[in-house]
Amino acid sequence: MRRGLVLIHWIAVVGVAMSGRAVAAADSAPVARGRYLVEEIAKCTTCHTPRDEQDRPDANRPLAGSPVPFMPAHRVGEWADVAPRLAGRPPGTDDQIVKLLMTGISRTGRPPRQPMPQFHMTRADAEAVLAYLKSLPSREAPEPGR
Ligand code: HEC
Repeated sequence: MRRGLVLIHWIAVVGVAMSGRAVAAADSAPVARGRYLVEEIAKCTTCHTPRDEQDRPDANRPLAGSPVPFMPAHRVGEWADVAPRLAGRPPGTDDQIVKLLMTGISRTGRPPRQPMPQFHMTRADAEAVLAYLKSLPSREAPEPGR
């Protein structure tokens, strides 16, 4: 029963990703898994996707980079006000991004500033997330209707 539910969920996730724009058929499984991890589990969109007029993550500009939409009640350590663009070409080499997602250590040799979480993903999950990021358009999509 549980296995059946997982399978149905997986099919739904793959289906959603397949309906997206730039998904190459050969890479669809890791891309779909990466999208699921990014959107549903790690919630990278909370910080890295700009907001629309209703202050919701803008579905037309996924992971295009954004001002961080909140501040700590008390300043704790170094705080970054901007979350960089991840869509298309995330900052760093493939190896640096995978290492960041597996260890929490960035290309600088230190963790990124808060509020970027320190993730400890498996290599397969980190590579799936990277595959999804690279499947997104590397420049901002035009406004709908233009
Ligand atoms: C709670 C907010 C938040 C979430 C959630 C978040 N990030 Fe970030 N991220 C940031 C901020 C802020 C920075 C900039 C840190 C800095 O400038 O030191 C950043 C930086 C980065 C960087 C650049 C690191 C570098 O070497 O410069 C990458 C890559 C990144 N995030 C990927 C991700 C991915 C992938 C996810 C989801 C798996 C994610 N982030 C989730 C806020 C967030």
